[in-house]
Amino acid sequence: MNAAARQDQYRLAVILGSVREGRFVTTVGEWFARQAGRREDVKLDVIDLARPDGDARTFGERIDAADAVVVVVPEYNHSFPGELKAAIDSLKPQWRAKPVGFVSYGGRGGGLRAVEQLRLVFAELHAATIRETVSFHDAWREFGPDGEPRRAGEAAGAANALLDQLAWWALALRRAREEVPYPV
Ligand SMILES: Cc1cc2nc3c(=O)[nH]c(=O)nc-3n(C[C@H](O)[C@H](O)[C@H](O)COP(=O)(O)O)c2cc1C
Repeated sequence: MNAAARQDQYRLAVILGSVREGRFVTTVGEWFARQAGRREDVKLDVIDLARPDGDARTFGERIDAADAVVVVVPEYNHSFPGELKAAIDSLKPQWRAKPVGFVSYGGRGGGLRAVEQLRLVFAELHAATIRETVSFHDAWREFGPDGEPRRAGEAAGAANALLDQLAWWALALRRAREEVPYPV
């Protein structure tokens, strides 16, 4: 890739937002990581809150290095998992003026109630949440044993719509942070 193309690349941290034994987040998260990994404009870092992965950096250093974040989040009792909230709360300046998108899953609601609540949390942290969301209702029925969604084309379209918007915000906010310190 030439230098001009690299300038248009953004560093995307994808957070796997469930640490539960037997969790489904790896299926959804790995699918999304494959979608993001196919794009030339994305430099991907998948952060698993449950398991160290050999990356020597702390969670804070990895979010600090990111130009954009996607949270892969299930719905627990109409909200998000407590462990995810603890991870979000453990950082502060690292979130500021960064775009955050969501891939959600769950039962009937597709995890969307968790997403709406996370928007409030990220607003407090001066992050900019992205309108486009990828959502899977009855996710365990949607994904086949091969780890791919049954409606693969539709799901890939939704992922790319999110990643397109994320790219716009990631590059715009990176430029803005470089030019003017974010006022807090
Ligand atoms: C404690 C708990 C509460 C849940 N509450 C909801 C809920 O309110 N709405 C929903 O659609 N699914 C709910 N579910 C189903 C989860 O979204 C589903 O089990 C999903 O796979 C959880 O993600 P995980 O397996 O990656 O932890 C709940 C699951 C758990 C474990």
